[in-house]
Amino acid sequence: MRIGVQTRALVTGASAGIGRAIATELSSRGARLGLIARRADRLEELAAELPVSAAGPHIVLAADVADRAAIESAVASFVSQAGGLELFVANAGIAHYGPFVDAPLEHAEQMIAVNVSGTTLSVAAALAPMIDAGRGHVIVISSGAGLRAFPSAAVYGATKAYDKGFAEALRHELSGTGISVTTAFPGEFESDLHAHERELLPDWRSNDEERPPAELATAIADAVEADKRGVYLPREVRLLGLNGIAPRLVDRILVRLRGPSAAPRRD
Ligand SMILES: NC(=O)c1ccc[n+]([C@@H]2O[C@H](COP(=O)([O-])OP(=O)(O)OC[C@H]3O[C@@H](n4cnc5c(N)ncnc54)[C@H](OP(=O)(O)O)[C@@H]3O)[C@@H](O)[C@H]2O)c1
Repeated sequence: MRIGVQTRALVTGASAGIGRAIATELSSRGARLGLIARRADRLEELAAELPVSAAGPHIVLAADVADRAAIESAVASFVSQAGGLELFVANAGIAHYGPFVDAPLEHAEQMIAVNVSGTTLSVAAALAPMIDAGRGHVIVISSGAGLRAFPSAAVYGATKAYDKGFAEALRHELSGTGISVTTAFPGEFESDLHAHERELLPDWRSNDEERPPAELATAIADAVEADKRGVYLPREVRLLGLNGIAPRLVDRILVRLRGPSAAPRRD
């Protein structure tokens, strides 16, 4: 799909980090945007900063992706105001790190609500008008942690593996419908994802490795235009996929790159 003035695009989690960068990139390519997140003030600020699309003003839609009625209403409102939907980015997500047995179970519940239910409910809402139109593209933001889960991020990694599996199956299921699906597997990018817990991050999670989210946004927009199955950035993230066939090899690579906290058990 070529992204341009004819593209009506919705981005969840557009108020910060990667979602904000994706919205900015799509806008620079001419798309008319719908911006979804809970913080309406941040979305309004972004909408005012983005170049105006020749197709019409960007639309701010405050909604919680984990609230089915709210996300369905936000997507329906965008479709009715913009007249259609070609591109949907399921990006909204949260993270809590820490050893599973020590962490409050509420953290697990919150991650499952946003990263699993939120992705599922928002993609379902977006697919309805795309199926009617017989065209569209969905991007799901998983993570390198969805390819190989890390200690101190058991639930986060599991939610991102869900996102991967969900998107992978949909890409095949939707074959022949005019709708395609791309999954993104980011490594470490500058964002607010860990702003609430910087001091709790495990040793293997390095702030020094964080890259600018604009780089990821460009790769994702290019991947949509090329109808790529996946985006792996940085490229080494792809190596984590080897975990399915050679987990001990991946452990060894991770220990070398990130130290023993990335794979403390030897077997
Ligand atoms: N940063 C990384 O290194 C990295 C790596 C791999 C994958 N990812 C994934 O990238 C995605 C974006 O994360 P980020 O790093 O950009 O984090 P971020 O800066 O914290 O942004 C998260 C976005 O999600 C929104 N959000 C959170 N809960 C929501 C909810 N219930 N309903 C609607 N919107 C919600 C937030 O907006 P409000 O608070 O305004 O609702 C915010 O706009 C996530 O899915 C994350 O798992 C990030």
